[in-house]
Amino acid sequence: MRIMMIGSGYVGLVSGVCFADFGHDVTCMDKDEGKIAALKAGEIPIYEPGLAALVQDNVKAGRLSFTTDLKAGVAEADVVFIAVGTPSRRGDGHADLSYVHAAAREIAQAVTGFTVVVTKSTVPVGTGDEVERIIRETNPDADIAVVSNPEFLREGAAIEDFKRPDRIVLGLDDERAREVMSEVYRPLYLNQAPILFTSRRTSELIKYAANAFLAMKITYINEIADLCEKVGANVQEVARGIGLDGRIGSKFLHAGPGYGGSCFPKDTLALVKTAQDHDSPMRLIEATVAINDNRKRAMARKVISALNGDVRDKRIAILGLTFKPNTDDMRDSPAISIIQALQDHGARISAYDPEGMENARKVIDNVTYAEGPYEAAEGVDAVVIVTEWNQFRALDLGRLKTLVRRPVLVDLRNIYRRDEVTRHGFSYTNVGQGAAPSES
Ligand code: UDX
Repeated sequence: MRIMMIGSGYVGLVSGVCFADFGHDVTCMDKDEGKIAALKAGEIPIYEPGLAALVQDNVKAGRLSFTTDLKAGVAEADVVFIAVGTPSRRGDGHADLSYVHAAAREIAQAVTGFTVVVTKSTVPVGTGDEVERIIRETNPDADIAVVSNPEFLREGAAIEDFKRPDRIVLGLDDERAREVMSEVYRPLYLNQAPILFTSRRTSELIKYAANAFLAMKITYINEIADLCEKVGANVQEVARGIGLDGRIGSKFLHAGPGYGGSCFPKDTLALVKTAQDHDSPMRLIEATVAINDNRKRAMARKVISALNGDVRDKRIAILGLTFKPNTDDMRDSPAISIIQALQDHGARISAYDPEGMENARKVIDNVTYAEGPYEAAEGVDAVVIVTEWNQFRALDLGRLKTLVRRPVLVDLRNIYRRDEVTRHGFSYTNVGQGAAPSES
């Protein structure tokens, strides 16, 4: 199939190159000329493990190309994916659909022959109807079918998630579109990935319902972690104990500083707004959003209490800035709120992140960026692990002890065991593993 991908960001670029790797002929388009020029020069503007090699292979095989010209690409395409950003609208949390609507108008003016138009971006329920209305209004002769095909890609694992999905969801009501989309996903279909065909609105809601549920599951274990600290239980063992129940499942039960990223914060808010607009409030997700927002500053209080309640003029090393490992993405990262809160209490911050420091400089001020975890820890009063990058999992604690001014380790991702840390002379604070009341 000839596929046109409109939007070459985290979703569009990964989806486009994976479709090319299936054997389709893919053109990835973006309005950002700098991004397209970089892609044409073989540079990848986002950090995603394995992406650079996959792009290079498929460009060399002649299955993948890049352009800023929407019109030409759409005219030749059998399928046009809309994979543009749908950020939270400033102020009210609704999804900003202006880029989606603009793409629909431009597609309408460029389509030739029967074309399937697919919303890949995360869009509120009813957006597919609006895209179809815009296209038919702009070009009444356009022979199109509009399909919803949400993505379930985790940053840092996007290629794996695309190639071995738990399921493919297709929201459509046109038989020709069903045939085209079955052909687009045939390589996955062959290796047994279940394809769920449903209505467009159901497909759009599935995406929000999935992300909001995962965000709620994480928030649930984070609240259990707080209770564990009070009653002297161990949240990692609670998570294991409940996760072994097939009805609960063990994934997304790692307690931490709260969720961040470009999806959960945006999608939970958008779902809450959609539900409120339709007079069917999602109170559990409203609570999830509020609890998660409060948690990030609560983590700063955890650090402050690890330093006996006062961090004024103290130096604190933050290890990990991105919202999760294996990405360079700082969007809604807990590190931003944690650092801001510590600075508000007078702390001076040094920081290290393997991939995120360039993006961090754009959103966090007054931080000294270090070349590595040990350089960040020199002369500090506390070391705080915020993101569980693999290279933080086996730090040489003996060496670290010689570098810090005070041996205080705060592990917000529970990647260490208390006894191995205290054996090196550090005080150890983590999430959800409190001392039993009698021990405190
Ligand atoms: C998420 C969804 O997983 C994906 O399906 C959707 O398409 C996009 O949003 P992503 O945001 O890339 O993917 O990362 P994910 O791995 O889901 O983690 C989201 C946040 O939850 C991160 O801040 C992570 O640190 C946090 N998290 C995740 C936890 O705190 N505990 C967990 O057990 C899992």
